[in-house]
Amino acid sequence: MKISYLDQDGTRTDLDAGEGTNLMELAVRGGVTTIEGECGGALACATCHVHIPDEWRGVTGEPSDDEREMLEFGVGVDERSRLCCQIRVTAAMDGLVVLTPASQR
Ligand code: FES
Repeated sequence: MKISYLDQDGTRTDLDAGEGTNLMELAVRGGVTTIEGECGGALACATCHVHIPDEWRGVTGEPSDDEREMLEFGVGVDERSRLCCQIRVTAAMDGLVVLTPASQR
């Protein structure tokens, strides 16, 4: 399945995803430089912050309370915000476009 990452400057990276990985691992392996994933997915940083478009939020789900707390350290956080290491890839995400913030700091 195809999952895309769109930077604010318009750079788009299309990646082939398998089920079971998460959106942070996929991005880091695929060379999406706006997603750092500094803590390796341990929910201990906010460098995997992304925006999920409204039409996809039903598929990606809602953040846990712990994720919401960590999101307070993100830059440009709004109601679309997620820490993408917490989003496990499923078949329903084929065609998903993840929006990456301009800066994580
Ligand atoms: Fe650190 Fe997602 S990689 S919280």
